[in-house]
Amino acid sequence: MREPYVAPETLEPIERASRDELAALQLERLRWSLQHAYDRVPFYRRRFDEAGVHPSDLKGLGDLEHFPFTTKQDLRDNYPFGLLAVPLEQVSRIHASSGTTGQPVVVCYTRRDVQTWSGLVARCLRASGVRPGERVHVAYGYGLFTGGLGAHYGAEVYGCTVIPVSGGMTERQVRLICDLRPQVIMVTPSYMLAILDEMVRQGVEPSQTSLEVGVFGAEPWTEAMRKEIEDRIGMHALDIYGLSEIMGPGVANECVETKDGPHLWEDHFYPEVIDPLDGRVLPEGEPGELVLTSLTKEAMPVIRYRTRDLTRLLPGTARPMRRMARITGRSDDMIILRGVNLFPTQVEELILEVPELAPHFECVLTRPGRLDEMTVRVERRPGAEVTGVGGRLEGRMKERMGVSVTVEVVEPDTLERSLGKARRIVDLRQPPPT
Ligand code: DLL
Repeated sequence: MREPYVAPETLEPIERASRDELAALQLERLRWSLQHAYDRVPFYRRRFDEAGVHPSDLKGLGDLEHFPFTTKQDLRDNYPFGLLAVPLEQVSRIHASSGTTGQPVVVCYTRRDVQTWSGLVARCLRASGVRPGERVHVAYGYGLFTGGLGAHYGAEVYGCTVIPVSGGMTERQVRLICDLRPQVIMVTPSYMLAILDEMVRQGVEPSQTSLEVGVFGAEPWTEAMRKEIEDRIGMHALDIYGLSEIMGPGVANECVETKDGPHLWEDHFYPEVIDPLDGRVLPEGEPGELVLTSLTKEAMPVIRYRTRDLTRLLPGTARPMRRMARITGRSDDMIILRGVNLFPTQVEELILEVPELAPHFECVLTRPGRLDEMTVRVERRPGAEVTGVGGRLEGRMKERMGVSVTVEVVEPDTLERSLGKARRIVDLRQPPPT
């Protein structure tokens, strides 16, 4: 693995600012953003009025907690353009969230919003240890999904050579990596694994490829998965976080010198963590739901957006901006199995502790009688002898997660591969849970 590329002299001034300087900038921008939303978006004006708050009530950053939340349902209810704060003619880009159920959510960007976004993705690449001039293979999907184009514009602004492959056609992904020799790949971690397997199938040794840095996100993944990817390819694997409603990829990114969780780019997004049940703002370090407020967005300011992502805020290390702990999962991905709450990321961690098993898995939920059951279907690694392995993993899961599950070890290459975000939960419960 190459030495982490860290060039402090290339950081933006705000990435070297003190907490006080950062807070002063946040306050100024937060005031602007609240006022912008209040003046230009009837929805926010109504919500603020109903809650009895006015942008001028914000004296300090902590006062934000008096403002109302915005939810995904609010965005759906205002589909497609109800939350626009600028005339439609000033919108230079439209994306949509990848939601598979319900009404889609549309997000809009002015020209300046796209510039801000690209600048932040460029910042993420620098934090990841990418050097200008390197070739970046973008395997996030292009189109309405923010992953492909978001990564693309950022890499271009950073001065990289962009290879806009998009997701899918895995055989071709491997051929392009071998032929064009990118140093960097931007892709979901689960699709990276599919590309890895395809390399092996084609007789390409992953550690011999040109890849040196991977910027992985768009779905939850674990430290164990980082190790798996780093060890097999000999590359740095960094975590990039983002969501369409707030911008797209690049809301937060890890720094290669510390690899200790994504730094939230707090000069553009103000983070809070709340108790998902009562909405109370939690002290730094406590786990809860991440809430984000945009500080600079023109086309669609978002005030106190409930991301449903579960994490904790941690103090900054490589940057003054605070970090978020790896996301355990989304509140809507939480499996409640006979009263025990668990996430696919916990399953992933335990699977990766077993050398005979590959990190390709799904959690199948059924309700054969009155109680829910979960079967973890997981592939064995090619060539691995797996007698007794399932039973051992069942024991470990019972011990660590506190609930019995069945493990079914299946043949390599039998589970469906994702081309983007992995679908870890297969819910076959009848009738559907209420
Ligand atoms: O997934 C944007 C993105 C693209 C981020 C490429 C990173 C890389 P959405 O489709 O709106 O946008 O999905 C957003 O994906 O609320 C999280 O639940 C999840 N997610 C995104 N990044 C991470 C991550 C893009 N690094 C939703 N770790 C978010 C865990 C992530 N979950």
